[in-house]
Amino acid sequence: MASVSTLIQILPLVAGFALAADYPGIPKDLTTPVQQRVAFKGPNAISVAWNTYQKLNEGCVQYGKSANSLTSQACSTQSLTYGTSRTWANTVVLSGLDAATTYYYKINSTNSTVNQFMTARTPGDKTAFNLDVVVDLGVYGADGYTTSRKRDIPYVQPALNHTTIAALARTIDNYDFVIHPGDFAYADDWYLKPKNLLDGKNAYAAILENFYDQLAPIADRKPYMVSPGNHEAACTEIPFSSGLCPEGQKNFTDFLTRFNGQMPTSFASSSKNVTAQAAAKKAQALANPPFWYSFEYGMAHIVMIDTETDFPSAPDAAGGSANLGGGPFGKTPTQQLDFLDADLSSVDRTVTPWVIVAGHRPWYSTGDSKNICTPCQKAFEPLFYKYGVDLGVFGHVHNSQRFNPVYNNIADTAGLKNPKAPAYIIAGGAGNIEGLSDVGANFSTNVFAYGDEFSYATLKFKDAKNLQIDFLRSDTGEVLDSSVVYKEHAVAFVRN
Ligand SMILES: *[C@@H]1O[C@H](CO)[C@@H](O)[C@H](O)[C@H]1NC(C)=O
Ligand SMILES: *[C@@H]1O[C@H](CO)[C@@H](O)[C@H](O)[C@H]1NC(C)=O
Ligand SMILES: *[C@@H]1O[C@H](CO)[C@@H](O)[C@H](O)[C@H]1NC(C)=O
Ligand SMILES: *[C@@H]1O[C@H](CO)[C@@H](O)[C@H](O)[C@H]1NC(C)=O
Ligand SMILES: *[C@@H]1O[C@H](CO)[C@@H](O)[C@H](O)[C@H]1NC(C)=O
Ligand SMILES: *[C@@H]1O[C@H](CO)[C@@H](O)[C@H](O)[C@H]1NC(C)=O
Repeated sequence: MASVSTLIQILPLVAGFALAADYPGIPKDLTTPVQQRVAFKGPNAISVAWNTYQKLNEGCVQYGKSANSLTSQACSTQSLTYGTSRTWANTVVLSGLDAATTYYYKINSTNSTVNQFMTARTPGDKTAFNLDVVVDLGVYGADGYTTSRKRDIPYVQPALNHTTIAALARTIDNYDFVIHPGDFAYADDWYLKPKNLLDGKNAYAAILENFYDQLAPIADRKPYMVSPGNHEAACTEIPFSSGLCPEGQKNFTDFLTRFNGQMPTSFASSSKNVTAQAAAKKAQALANPPFWYSFEYGMAHIVMIDTETDFPSAPDAAGGSANLGGGPFGKTPTQQLDFLDADLSSVDRTVTPWVIVAGHRPWYSTGDSKNICTPCQKAFEPLFYKYGVDLGVFGHVHNSQRFNPVYNNIADTAGLKNPKAPAYIIAGGAGNIEGLSDVGANFSTNVFAYGDEFSYATLKFKDAKNLQIDFLRSDTGEVLDSSVVYKEHAVAFVRN
């Protein structure tokens, strides 16, 4: 009797089709940077990361304030991979940079070009700025998404532009950076394409390579801030034995390898208050990037959280509702929540009036109640309310939604006029192979829900009191919904 593995080897030959992972070509020059991405690493630091098809003994980046005078250099020996990956992830931190300044940089290689980024605005700088939010963004092309809102997967032209990535490229001068709390590429959905069925290991790697290549024209210029979603850990969606689950797909392995050392812990406090300074120090020690961490940009303090693991009954943790067996990543079971408490308590609103927290799974959503993460609500919502978080940003549900300020499922009667409770959005309609989700029934304080075409959100920080939230249709740029949250921000250290 042939073993299962022998069958898997000969079946494609018998059936007459080739194992056909749609890998991008490997550049002849193996030092060529691919999948480039930059991130805020500190108030005066940017991390530059890229992959290569060989391990680098030392990766270097030359940089400077003028494109033809890259007089500084930073290097690192961090070049990471894992068993089923074809590439190595390299990360170099550029520090001692001036704030809100454009720098030019070149990843050192015999085959690379000069690019540019802008550093973070100093905490407390009240200059208006915009950031874009995308969640649940998949690869396009042969292994990619459907443009249909249904879940069926028609043939998609490999050349078809991904409408949300195309929109981010088209409007690249309209926003300063991007936050993406979870679900990248949807490489774990390789099994949805019959041609991949017998070659999950290569299909998984190919989808990731293609996706991060597609994202590079955005992420190599605009700081791209990430946190994990369930698709960074899912093996149970494969309708075979988990033995077919490639290594990178388990336990956030690709996510961690790729973003290892690239995201910040949290910024040192810019407050004059010594209690706040101590709390920020504590948060810095408890942060665990790329899973949970914070950063500041001008008038905003932004926290990225992990809604998958590391809190009671977390969905992806062993025994959780998603049962993906991921994590834990904290040294103690309470590390993430201790971090969030210390971090939020440290925020001085006279410095950064706006506090945004972004994670993957929502606890307010229209439609199917299985999309609601009740353990997330239990763990995080009390801290959001206590410390006066202004806006909660989520995805997971594949459409766009906005909720008026709400706490414990009860609407804040102030509405958008100086509420105590956070407003919430879901920006999960960016587009992926699973298609868009039906809007479903109106729930809680929902005031906007859209799932007809791909869409994403822009947060416009107008001044210390006005935050405009726009939802945009990706293919046309049409504004689907626009609202303004007004906050007095009269109290330096909010405690509700
Ligand atoms: C150089 O890089 C470009 C992409 O940036 C690639 O298309 C090309 O094949 C590379 N050349 C060599 C010799 O590897
Ligand atoms: C720059 O990259 C080239 C290969 O592309 C390598 O030979 C050289 O040693 C590198 N220089 C530094 C300073 O890393
Ligand atoms: C994709 O976008 C590029 C740049 O915007 C454009 O030149 C090209 O024609 C587009 N391709 C398709 C198939 O729409
Ligand atoms: C300093 O911050 C703490 C909270 O972190 C607050 O309770 C206290 O009132 C602040 N002190 C001053 C002088 O503002
Ligand atoms: C997942 O990875 C973390 C960190 O590498 C490790 O501590 C944990 O035990 C892993 N979980 C599982 C289920 O393998
Ligand atoms: C949901 O219901 C509320 C209250 O009736 C209403 O104001 C809101 O417009 C509804 N939202 C949607 C998307 O229909």
